Amino acid sequence: MSNQAKPIPSAPEYTGVGAPLAELDEEAIVAPAARARPIPRISIQAFCENGATAEIIQIASEDRRLAKAHVSVHMGGIEAAVIHYQQNPTPNLIVLESSLPPEHLVSELDRLAENCDPGTKVLVIGQVNDVMLYRELLRRGVSEYLVEPIEPLQLMEAISNLYNNPDTEPVGHVYAFVGAKGGVGSSTICHNTAWALSEALKSNVVIADLDLAFGTTGLDFNQDPMQGIADALSTPERLDEVLLDRLLTKCSEHLSIFAAPVVLDRDYDISVEGCDQVIDVVRQNVPYVAVDLPHLWTAWAKSVMLQADEVIITAAPDLANLRNAKNLVDLLAQMRRNDSKPRLVMNMVNMPKRPEISIKEFESAVGLKAISVIDFDSETFGQAANNGQMIEELNAKAKPAAGFRDIALAITNRRDTHVAKKSSALAPFLEKFKLKL
Ligand SMILES: Nc1ncnc2c1ncn2[C@@H]1O[C@H](COP(=O)(O)OP(=O)(O)OP(=O)(O)O)[C@@H](O)[C@H]1O
Ligand SMILES: [Mg+2]
Repeated sequence: MSNQAKPIPSAPEYTGVGAPLAELDEEAIVAPAARARPIPRISIQAFCENGATAEIIQIASEDRRLAKAHVSVHMGGIEAAVIHYQQNPTPNLIVLESSLPPEHLVSELDRLAENCDPGTKVLVIGQVNDVMLYRELLRRGVSEYLVEPIEPLQLMEAISNLYNNPDTEPVGHVYAFVGAKGGVGSSTICHNTAWALSEALKSNVVIADLDLAFGTTGLDFNQDPMQGIADALSTPERLDEVLLDRLLTKCSEHLSIFAAPVVLDRDYDISVEGCDQVIDVVRQNVPYVAVDLPHLWTAWAKSVMLQADEVIITAAPDLANLRNAKNLVDLLAQMRRNDSKPRLVMNMVNMPKRPEISIKEFESAVGLKAISVIDFDSETFGQAANNGQMIEELNAKAKPAAGFRDIALAITNRRDTHVAKKSSALAPFLEKFKLKL
């Protein structure tokens, strides 16, 4: 969460919390999100002229991508900033909103520059869309100029580009898999999807098993590693590329697991920061990270979910799953205002003799369309689990195998989030082909 810096007497601190940006078009939000990367532990002070802009900066400051940064928002625009920095050190980044005419703006920036520490960057938000002004500002050391109106994600992307190289690929994507209830198949979905993803994209994928005491990643891939994620979590500050490589267990050309120890002779008290640090190192080294979360509610598990690029909720069609899934969806909507909604996977559907809530009712109650609906199939799943195989390895033609490819496609935004139509016999091949595009 962002912290508020000391109040500035000459510039009233912005405290207003306005209506959520519910009316924003979701597609418009989702697109640039992929480019806005987590922003490092920097201090940002903003000086706004309008409440609406302050509101947008405030929303951005509460976003997961700015979770490490310290952001404070003040009113009074550039004039308040000039007065403030005559007596106070400058932060890493100053964001200024100004409606001043270009000449006046430039002279005020010169005044500000007199008191700017070296290393401080300045981002200006203005009203004039003029390339000459833009060049003049850059010449005077301004790092970026955005023309109003701005959106939170646009601001985040601009800030992230100042602190990350915009020409390099964004860091790896983190997918958090969580069950609406214990035992609903969340780990199975996580492992099979990660496997499908690694096969289809031919890109490296790591499964991080955070169910330290009871995790099944080792079993599911027929591996029994001596070291794994618990070693990283015990001394997160030591984890780097070299150590990570040692702690991962390779399961196939592109899939590795960060396995849980699954021994009960020690306690596993995971800290939020340690967990955050470990996942950060993995995502810096691997393009796709599937996090297998146990079904529990602790500070670190919640934090992993809130920080992930995508959250995949697996649920079975009963009442407790429905209630829990709805609670999760509501919480995520409230805490991740600039992100797309979590993805819903319905699992263990059509279990013989069990009364079930229909998929339609379930979807409308939680407000999400399932990206995949997987039938209860004890024979296929039981055999795969016993063999330490993925469903597709066991039987590529098995129906759930297509379901896992669907999920992989959906979470990497390679396809619409609709359940695959069962019409054509060629569908699985076409899907596979699409993934490779
Ligand atoms: N669609 C399915 N049909 C039949 N069995 C399934 C299906 N999906 C998963 N299973 C089986 O259900 C069991 C529990 O699955 P899994 O461990 O993935 O659940 P989980 O939600 O991760 O549980 P936990 O809460 O313990 O983490 C496993 O034995 C798995 O093989
Ligand atoms: Mg599990």
